[in-house]
Amino acid sequence: MDSVRYGVIGIKGVGGLHVNLAREHENIELTALVDLDEASVKAQSQELGIRAFTDYREMLNAGIVDAVSIATPHHLHAIIGLECLKAGLHIFTEKPLANRVSDADAMIEAAKARDLKLCVGHQYRTYRTPQTMKHLIDSGAIGNIMRVLWTWIAFRPESYYARAIWRQTWRHAGGGVLMNQTSHDLDLICWLIGEPVQVSAMIGNQFHQIEVEDVVCANMLFKNGAFGSIQLTINQPRGYSIRQIAGDKGALAIPDVQSLASDEADHILLGTYRDSLPDLVERTNGIAEQPETSWQPVELRDEPGGHKVLMDSFIDAILNGGEPLVNGVSARSAVELINAIVLSAMRKKSVDVPVDRGEYDELFEALSSGSLQIPRF
Ligand SMILES: NC(=O)c1ccc[n+]([C@@H]2O[C@H](COP(=O)([O-])OP(=O)(O)OC[C@H]3O[C@@H](n4cnc5c(N)ncnc54)[C@H](O)[C@@H]3O)[C@@H](O)[C@H]2O)c1
Repeated sequence: MDSVRYGVIGIKGVGGLHVNLAREHENIELTALVDLDEASVKAQSQELGIRAFTDYREMLNAGIVDAVSIATPHHLHAIIGLECLKAGLHIFTEKPLANRVSDADAMIEAAKARDLKLCVGHQYRTYRTPQTMKHLIDSGAIGNIMRVLWTWIAFRPESYYARAIWRQTWRHAGGGVLMNQTSHDLDLICWLIGEPVQVSAMIGNQFHQIEVEDVVCANMLFKNGAFGSIQLTINQPRGYSIRQIAGDKGALAIPDVQSLASDEADHILLGTYRDSLPDLVERTNGIAEQPETSWQPVELRDEPGGHKVLMDSFIDAILNGGEPLVNGVSARSAVELINAIVLSAMRKKSVDVPVDRGEYDELFEALSSGSLQIPRF
């Protein structure tokens, strides 16, 4: 096979980008578009001279695709994804992989059982700021990671939710600022630092007439012993979001993160200590001495980023073997962390990761049915 027959499910939002990337890819033959909006899907398909469907199952029955992008509301990623995998298709699903980690498990298992590729739309990993941070961490520039401080601050008015009702509910969106806006950041945190093993969190809704949370505060312990704190909110105009990752040899700091929604200009500072922290702790004689940290700006890596890189890696994995850049197993970490944060906050306890799937599914059902509601302030 040197060409992949391709379908896109959900075409009006970010799915439009998947359509364009598929059209432009030399190893993709775009053969099908699917959307509930009949007029839109018919008009676009006619323009491209390909088949239009309003029900993805009809596309599956037609047998005209080898792989699909899924760019629908969150709750459909697992439902549609599992059916596509069971029909033998490779899938590139938008983020988040699923609303519940139990669904993410099922998708990963279904792909593995049939030797199919599963790619997830966490394209932030391909942007130059995270790429540079990853490179610095992996090359040992800051040593073993000890501490992480990460905020995400931006503004979403009520009108943002009014135009897309699915974003308002637990059943469909699976969460608010966590699933919707910051699953990319939580994905970056897990990718850069590693797996969290313990989470203690609070979530709430301060301003919005929606079921899901608009503010989050969480602490986490990572497998490698690092301590992390995050604050995430859509209740404050964008500005002065902070990222700090401190290791035992140095630290990375982005004092005012610009790239909350795209790959805009960021400034990374690399701080280095004159010796490793354990040595400084042992040998510094002045009881209140602050060993100097030397700070310097880092030149950002300038490689191509975005959805195109993910799409290329997905198609390459299908045609030549190997894994897409963001596969199901690595994308599950963000879903698991989000589930752990919600579980910790709603049950008012510290939660161990891996999350107890049954316990989270039970909580999710209570939140989705409305028998349990998040705190409002
Ligand atoms: N990676 C990113 O940076 C990024 C950016 C935006 C959105 N997203 C993700 O993409 C997904 C879609 O978000 P959006 O903003 O494009 O949403 P949207 O509501 O604008 O578009 C969703 C599309 O799916 C269609 N749809 C809904 N149910 C369907 C069904 N059963 N069958 C076929 N089509 C169906 C809708 O008609 C619509 O065209 C979400 O998971 C979102 O989180 C990712």
